[in-house]
Amino acid sequence: MVPRPLVAIVDAVDRELPDLRDAAEIARLVEATGVDDLEAHLPELDAVFAWNFDRSTLLDVLPRAPRLRWIQSISAGVEDFVSPALAAHGIVLTNAAGVYDAGLAESVLGFLLALSARIVEDARLEPGAWPSGGTRLLRGTTALVVGAGSIGTEVGRLLRAAGIHVRGVARTPRPPDGTFDAIAGPEELHAELGGADHVVNVLPITDPTRGVFDAGAFAAMRPHAVFVNIGRGATVDEPALIEALAHGRIAGAALDVFEVEPLPAESPLWRMPNVLVSPHRAGDHEGWQTDVVALFVDNLERFVAGEPLRNVVDVELGYAPGGRS
Ligand code: OXD
Repeated sequence: MVPRPLVAIVDAVDRELPDLRDAAEIARLVEATGVDDLEAHLPELDAVFAWNFDRSTLLDVLPRAPRLRWIQSISAGVEDFVSPALAAHGIVLTNAAGVYDAGLAESVLGFLLALSARIVEDARLEPGAWPSGGTRLLRGTTALVVGAGSIGTEVGRLLRAAGIHVRGVARTPRPPDGTFDAIAGPEELHAELGGADHVVNVLPITDPTRGVFDAGAFAAMRPHAVFVNIGRGATVDEPALIEALAHGRIAGAALDVFEVEPLPAESPLWRMPNVLVSPHRAGDHEGWQTDVVALFVDNLERFVAGEPLRNVVDVELGYAPGGRS
């Protein structure tokens, strides 16, 4: 039981936050734009609801926040401040896994359709151009979802509904289920890449996932394969991807995340005819803010009642198992 905890809502972005009345009934809320604003509250602070600010600075204040026990992230990825230091200070970190699954899955289906139904090409036609050449069916093809957690599973469900055979790669192999025909371990990645028509990368960034999609991975893919990235940019060796696209080693890519964001204007990815660039918003359906507040309020009720929280991040692994795996 934590009676009326003091919770800081930290956001550097100037926006109207969703209705927090449910939270205000059970907690004392303070708003801050960064950790500097929190200084006076640190001795009493029980929890932080972390929106957009330099979240790595939270780690600096841990020694001065003796009561702090819980941080709720608005994002699924927490690579900017996940650290074993959180556990060492007795702090539970929870992420927003689940909030973005539907939007990400719909975007992936849209990306694949945009390339297979030639929507990207048609949207770029010069007035008067009238090329021939048919569309390519998704039905009956095979997709490999790399990172078969909650987002990957939602992606798999939608792709399956479009008649695509879906296989997965996860940290730990597991038996087939209603979504995946097979779920292999990381050591099978290259063999699985060789059997896929579409590769959907959902990986979070952690030490083992950094640069997993390197020249070897792109060489293992089929020349007609399309690569979709909704995970994290740094899981991909971007020069190797550009090289693979430029030399027709893979057919195309739809990219929502990049090593550097915003993607610099001089990146060749902007100008490649077989590449669709999305500005890291594939998961941000309109209304995500309300959904993330609902998750926060649910966790706040659990926190006050001393119950286990949802979406607990393994601070050693760097993500919530079952979320982005
Ligand atoms: C996230 C994101 O939630 O990429 O991690 O938007």
